[in-house]
Amino acid sequence: MTCISLPFSPDAPWLAPLAGWSDLPFRLLCREAGASVCCTEMISAKGLIYKSPGTAELLATVPDDTPLVVQLFGAEASFMEEAVYRLQERGFQWFDCNMGCSVPKVTRTGAGAAMCRDLDNALQVGEALVRAAGKGHVGFKLRLGWDASGPDAETWRTLAPELAGLGAGWLTLHPRTAKQGFSGSARHSALRELKSLVSIPVVASGDLMCAEDGIRCLRETGVDTVMYARGALRDPGIFTAHRILWNGGIPEKASVSAILERIRHHAHLATKLTSERAALLKMRTIVPRYVHDIEGVKQLRLDVIACRNWEDFAAALQRFAAFHGLS
Ligand SMILES: Cc1cc2nc3c(=O)[nH]c(=O)nc-3n(C[C@H](O)[C@H](O)[C@H](O)COP(=O)(O)O)c2cc1C
Repeated sequence: MTCISLPFSPDAPWLAPLAGWSDLPFRLLCREAGASVCCTEMISAKGLIYKSPGTAELLATVPDDTPLVVQLFGAEASFMEEAVYRLQERGFQWFDCNMGCSVPKVTRTGAGAAMCRDLDNALQVGEALVRAAGKGHVGFKLRLGWDASGPDAETWRTLAPELAGLGAGWLTLHPRTAKQGFSGSARHSALRELKSLVSIPVVASGDLMCAEDGIRCLRETGVDTVMYARGALRDPGIFTAHRILWNGGIPEKASVSAILERIRHHAHLATKLTSERAALLKMRTIVPRYVHDIEGVKQLRLDVIACRNWEDFAAALQRFAAFHGLS
């Protein structure tokens, strides 16, 4: 496989790892809109090795889905290392270690954000991943720490330089504590500090809900690039808007007909690349996000939730289009 390097530049925004969402169809949609790098959702290293149901689907990819970062989670260095070897056999070459997930199902196992409660182990995992992936081929996605105060606060200050010293290729920081989850606001000033603390690329995450947020974050913090998460789920066009804004232009707000076109295209990609049933379920949940701020969304939400098949789905979109005077 050709070894290309990952782009770390302000005009090359990334799609964040999004459990349940950053699947192959969504990644392709985001790439078409201008995402430069996409991440898979977090994948359990143990699940991958023991071939847990569903893991194979999470790794589905196609040649256009490049460059792709596979995100792994796990608290045991040996499993994380082995997972990378297995993935390399299948041609994957970029990896990310989830040290930020605050969901109890993950942290209970010592993985995700719980890694900032045991820094020795976090560094052992880091070392094993770099050994397997090769220097520069693995990134680490961090939170500020476990809590706002106490022994596990602000652990990013210790972890970041240590991981960089081990050979990490980049660091991503979502500057909230694990305890915060998504509450409060992301402390972007920590990103600026991180940038001055390490010499490897820094990717910003957190409260980047629109392209303007991303550009502001880049300008205020000096990070190398940003990754969009919830902002991309609302509007994959965020990547197009980002590139236009960064280059001094003014992005246009997507029209209702452009949004409907995007929905139909997403449905097409989802049916082509996943099962009919999975595609319909996914579309039923993503459509309300895509139209969240448009008049008529309440009715559309009810209509798509009630969809049993693609005919119902097409009719729901048609009704919404008619409401907006579109045929
Ligand atoms: C639905 C959802 C799923 C997520 N899944 C993951 C994941 O699998 N791995 C990860 O590192 N972060 C995950 N995150 C966190 C995001 O990647 C991102 O860091 C976070 O949402 C902050 O960015 P935002 O405020 O711009 O959305 C997820 C977030 C959301 C909303």
